[in-house]
Amino acid sequence: MTTASAPGKVYLFGEHAVVYGEPAVPCAISRRAWVTAERRADSRLRVHAEDLSLDGFTVEYSGETDTAPDVDVSPGLIRAAMGYVDAAVSQAREAADTPEAGFDITIESEIPLGAGLGSSAAVVVAGIEAATRELGVELSTEEIADRAYRAEHEVQEGQASRADTFCSATGGAVRVEGEDCRAIESPDLPFVIGFDGGAGNTGELVSGVRKLRERYPFAADTVETVGDIVRQGERALAEGDIEELGTLMDFNHGLLSALGVSSRSLDRMVWAARDAGAHGAKLTGAGGGGCIVALDETEETETALRFTPGCEEGFRAELDDEGVCLA
Ligand code: PMV
Repeated sequence: MTTASAPGKVYLFGEHAVVYGEPAVPCAISRRAWVTAERRADSRLRVHAEDLSLDGFTVEYSGETDTAPDVDVSPGLIRAAMGYVDAAVSQAREAADTPEAGFDITIESEIPLGAGLGSSAAVVVAGIEAATRELGVELSTEEIADRAYRAEHEVQEGQASRADTFCSATGGAVRVEGEDCRAIESPDLPFVIGFDGGAGNTGELVSGVRKLRERYPFAADTVETVGDIVRQGERALAEGDIEELGTLMDFNHGLLSALGVSSRSLDRMVWAARDAGAHGAKLTGAGGGGCIVALDETEETETALRFTPGCEEGFRAELDDEGVCLA
């Protein structure tokens, strides 16, 4: 039996624009997913998952991946989660050259599903590490990141950048531009996260931005401007200038909103954070619902989020330098 874990992430800057070749800066956070893989005598796959959401309900899922679990979470989300586990196990079987290997897989996660915190990437990354190690194979972090990207790419039908999976595999702050992924230096960042209890549909949101870009030249310019914000943000990160990072996050959120991927609850949480004195705030991930990220070293934003209508959870998260590891 082997357990591995990997962190979730927030986008400091650059989601959506990264799909069109602009750079993005995701940062790993101190919320993780743990995946345990135990080799079976046969070639079947059995998945047991719990704590799939932040608000503490438990999803007991047991059976083959094609049977529907009886749980109080959207079946679409559960199906998606199981698709990621399937794809991770396929990658591990291929890496270890054991196509028939069967597993009992257990997932425990502190990262809400589909909410912009990289839950699927964390599960795929930890799943590949746990299953390959269980088969006696040790992959480098780069190989895990690459295989995790291929798994996500397959499940998301081509709508995936390397950002989530690379960040979850390596930990810390990273810079992703097309195929080029690298770790970057970052000071400690005082992340505060607000979660509206919902989730956006990444595929629909990505295709909405694509349509706007095709229809209006100024929407294409907006995407490019997000790239400019990211480049400016990298300089602010290198200088440890939190004030400037906040200003740029506010700007990035405004442009994401113009591109149609914010929502009323995300905007409310962003404004609650700004009113509470955060350096800056923006949605993180695909948008449409899910999470915002703010920078605030005081307690004010966390407290304000708790009293914001539509905000289900407000919590602090550290930048996590630890990427994928054996638990
Ligand atoms: O919501 P998440 O964490 O899956 O992030 C999606 C980020 C996008 O840029 C919208 C898509 C992508 O694959 O980069």
